[in-house]
Amino acid sequence: MYVCNCNGIRERQVRAAIAAGARRPAEVFKSCGARPQCARCVCDMRAMLDAQSEALRFAAE
Ligand code: FES
Repeated sequence: MYVCNCNGIRERQVRAAIAAGARRPAEVFKSCGARPQCARCVCDMRAMLDAQSEALRFAAE
């Protein structure tokens, strides 16, 4: 499933970027070698980043 239609960034690429240390949408774009264009995907990226940080917080407890 695509998260970013402008750049063809798939959900698995966003997850890989987060696993590699991306903590902001800008870092996800950078990790994917892309730049934001319309920025409609940023909310979805933020949601994925928030979910991942929440999961890490629970794992650390
Ligand atoms: S959908 Fe990601 S920049 Fe447009």
